[in-house]
Amino acid sequence: CLSPALYPAYRQENDRVIVVDVFRATTTICAAFANGARAIIPVAGIQDAERYKAQGFPVGAERNARKCDFADFGNSPFDVTAEKVGGKTIVFTTTNGTQAVEAAKDSAYLLIGAFSNIDVLMEKSIEFGGRVVILCAGWNNRINIEDTLFAGAFAEKLIQKAVIRRLPDSVRIALHLWEKAKADPLDFVKQTEHYQRLIANHAETDAPFCLQHDTCPVVPYYDKEKGWLSVS
Ligand code: MLT
Repeated sequence: CLSPALYPAYRQENDRVIVVDVFRATTTICAAFANGARAIIPVAGIQDAERYKAQGFPVGAERNARKCDFADFGNSPFDVTAEKVGGKTIVFTTTNGTQAVEAAKDSAYLLIGAFSNIDVLMEKSIEFGGRVVILCAGWNNRINIEDTLFAGAFAEKLIQKAVIRRLPDSVRIALHLWEKAKADPLDFVKQTEHYQRLIANHAETDAPFCLQHDTCPVVPYYDKEKGWLSVS
């Protein structure tokens, strides 16, 4: 069974969770691992990120779609180059994405999802089985279109594989939206709030990348013992 949910409505400790923030935190996390990052310590607060920075960790930090001044890089998948993150443990904080990770880190498992890893993620979640919640980070506790589109695309793939049969309303809503958008997802999102925010912050090249499928075939997961994201 699959069920998209919106941060911070999510509160069930035993769910298996896929955290999604298409624009851009989870896409950037996948890009960092595809570029060789060893681990990513997700932190919710700026002060925690600054503390890690003072200890010498490379830090990525974003608020309101802008890179924070103290940080080494921001929240663009193009920021996390192999030169900046290869072989390193980095720290990452973003407006909504890392808050959603924080909210779900006690789940039975927590995986990171984006269009950039959608196929390998689907294989992994089928392998794990059980009820999966797609936790959409949204924006400032509100639903957004791009994360809902991901939920619809993911559900469509599971239906094609005959893995889900029962469709809760939340899945039907996501599927309907994806059906409308899938011929040209970039055109579909052009009027969305966060696309406009990205344009206003000169990040217009990020959106097309964030909507491409399978550019970063990694499945980051939250390692509860270590307190960081890792890939196997
Ligand atoms: C977030 O965590 O809200 C974002 O990923 C925002 C952004 O695009 O930088």
